[in-house]
Amino acid sequence: MAVLLGRDDWVYKELTCWIDCKPAPKRVNELPHRSGRRMPARYTYGAGPKKPSSWKEERMNDVQGSAQCYLEPRNDSLPMRPSGPWAREKLDYLERYVNVFVNSMHNKPWRGIHYIDLFAGPGKCRAGNTEVHLGSPLIALKTTRPFTRYFFADMNEENVWALQQRCSVSPLQERVHCFTGDSNLMVDVIAERIATIDRKYVPGQWPSLNLAFLDPAGLDLNWSTVETLARLNRMDLIVHYPLMGLARYMPRACDSTETTKVDLFFGSREWRPIYQKWQGQRKLHRQLIDCTFANLK
Ligand SMILES: C[S@@+](CC[C@H](N)C(=O)[O-])C[C@H]1O[C@@H](n2cnc3c(N)ncnc32)[C@H](O)[C@@H]1O
Repeated sequence: MAVLLGRDDWVYKELTCWIDCKPAPKRVNELPHRSGRRMPARYTYGAGPKKPSSWKEERMNDVQGSAQCYLEPRNDSLPMRPSGPWAREKLDYLERYVNVFVNSMHNKPWRGIHYIDLFAGPGKCRAGNTEVHLGSPLIALKTTRPFTRYFFADMNEENVWALQQRCSVSPLQERVHCFTGDSNLMVDVIAERIATIDRKYVPGQWPSLNLAFLDPAGLDLNWSTVETLARLNRMDLIVHYPLMGLARYMPRACDSTETTKVDLFFGSREWRPIYQKWQGQRKLHRQLIDCTFANLK
């Protein structure tokens, strides 16, 4: 099953009917804040020790004594992601979905229930000067019933470090696997790990059940990543559909002879004639989503 999240009521309605909870909220006009120092992809992964760089040493000094609130929606002096009400709303949907997912599925003989967050961020978001709320990885970590394993990835090294610090005080820390680098590459490593877990036949046990949340800030997600995840046995996908990024890039990308970010996001050039037919109309994105997901089946 795949659900798309975007800044539009009709997308919310799709998710709401899965969660079976209160009606979709009103639109929020604030844009999500794009933040985070972009680091070049370093194809390293895991939580292994690394030589602390100066920003890590500085942060280390800042955070002494704050560990007790690492998992709480409070300031803990670690890096946070600046965000707006839109991000809060999106994460509220995620939280409700995750809770329904784990509560309804926990008593089946899965060999594991995995949460995969490929654009994880640092674990906390700050809205304005005072409001702090949990980011997607910590929401999943604090759900009513824990997952068997958590796979978190982000290409920003500082984000991964902050997330690791926060996870380190969780009783579930042994279940957390953090990856630094481009998720469109890291996904192969994560998918292979899960496939390895599933490969061995265990009598009476079902393959693992997986939930992936893909929350790129712009057009950073390649469709090939979605396809890789979808090839795993039991995979629920929640994908953030970057409406604003697409609206910005599509007019230029439509006529480009090169492979554009939009082509990579949709996984082919099939979006181009759809865009030409429906541009300027509200149905455009519905058409694009339907066409793209139809290719997954
Ligand atoms: C919208 S934020 C995610 C926020 C997060 N879900 C939360 O709830 O706090 C997008 C994140 O993706 C990371 N990112 C951007 N491009 C990436 C890529 N190609 N691979 C991995 N991470 C990437 C950014 O560093 C940023 O932390």
